[in-house]
Amino acid sequence: MSITTRPITKDEIERFRERVYRGFGDELGEEDRDPKRFLALMPLDLTVAAFDGDEMVGTLAACDFDVTVPGGAPVAMTGTTVVTVQPTHRRQGVLTAMMQDHLDAVAQRGDSLAGLWASETGIYGRFGFGHATSKDDVEAPTLAVTISTDAEGTVRLIEPDGVVELLAPIYDAARRSTPGMLSRSQEWWAHSVVHDPPHRRDRDQISAKRFVVYQADGSAEGYAIYAQKSDWSGEVPLGQVRVIEVISTTDRAHTGLWQYLANIDLFPRIRWWNMPVDDPLWWKVAEPRRLVRKRGDALWVRIMDVPAALEARSYETDGSIRIAVEDAFRPETSGVYELAVSNGVGKCVAVDANADVSLGVDALGALYLGGSSAVSMAAAAKIDGAADRVSLLHRLFRTDVAPWCEEVF
Ligand SMILES: CC(C)(COP(=O)(O)OP(=O)(O)OC[C@H]1O[C@@H](n2cnc3c(N)ncnc32)[C@H](O)[C@@H]1OP(=O)(O)O)[C@@H](O)C(=O)NCCC(=O)NCCS
Repeated sequence: MSITTRPITKDEIERFRERVYRGFGDELGEEDRDPKRFLALMPLDLTVAAFDGDEMVGTLAACDFDVTVPGGAPVAMTGTTVVTVQPTHRRQGVLTAMMQDHLDAVAQRGDSLAGLWASETGIYGRFGFGHATSKDDVEAPTLAVTISTDAEGTVRLIEPDGVVELLAPIYDAARRSTPGMLSRSQEWWAHSVVHDPPHRRDRDQISAKRFVVYQADGSAEGYAIYAQKSDWSGEVPLGQVRVIEVISTTDRAHTGLWQYLANIDLFPRIRWWNMPVDDPLWWKVAEPRRLVRKRGDALWVRIMDVPAALEARSYETDGSIRIAVEDAFRPETSGVYELAVSNGVGKCVAVDANADVSLGVDALGALYLGGSSAVSMAAAAKIDGAADRVSLLHRLFRTDVAPWCEEVF
């Protein structure tokens, strides 16, 4: 089998998307055939398709994001997505070939980071991606989510055509203080956040997306997006509120939105598959144990340029450490780097010296946004070094706010 790889042309979008859906065991619906959405979100020059002769057997594409790093800076990150290999061609190196092209393209465009959500945790470590943010899938009876506090502000439903104008500024304000959150272009708002195709709703038997905004003292301080899944047991309502996103810039907005979501008649159950792991809801409710939480991996980060990435973020403590980075997939990234932090600002250079700690580039990606414990990773042999140096690495990289990525891309 001889595999070739290249970006697709506009004429090949439909075939590419058919392969993506088939790769995930799904079907491209008639309603989804319009290439407009694909073109708005995924630049053609960043696609990679793999061919066996004329047959397209592999797909990969990318989106443009800035990701917020600790300290609040937005850093360009290529978002890797729609990775599939047809079932007939798996475990023969097709993804490896596509990933080589893809990461070369990321390096060429000068992004110091790539990021993705993984369908399975065993796939991407070998390509240098590390599990950088986590999420909690939370399910609860709404009674358990009741927060006793004097109501402040109001919550109102808004129509999809008013979403971008009202919600985007709230989102952007929240994004600046949360590592791991992604920038959203106008196209992204339209084609991903507001996008709500009827056939997907029918399949999951859920309502249209609802958008609510929380306002107090004349300013909009938060919003929630959710859908509703009706359910009846005999004549007893058992519906579930499916939270898609809760974004708040103030504590009272957070409280007001959860009070709203937990008090919708006929919907006594609530679920959010992507709650931040340090969401304050846990501390606000009377019976937190009833919020059943299942922890999972979320955004995976791949560091392409170690000095650029490490200098872009801030640090919680000062100190100096030499880090040996091993990158088997892109050996040019391997080396010893000295990170010197003063007043929270890092300077990072490649040095010809012995290292204090050594780790894979995937482990560095896992640490990068502050969501992983270097001490715990050292105990799992993902980081090597003396205990005091590992402890310093841990204290340098951890963050006050747990990193969180708001959506799968
Ligand atoms: C995941 C997928 C793209 C891998 O493609 P592939 O062409 O089989 O991957 P490769 O042959 O290049 O595999 C490279 C290495 O990764 C390993 N690998 C590939 N898929 C893996 C998986 N799902 N779990 C664990 N290891 C995996 C291979 O065993 C191989 O290991 P080796 O180098 O030690 O031999 C393919 O299985 C697929 O399309 N799966 C369904 C869709 C999907 O989940 N896509 C990912 C979306 S995030």
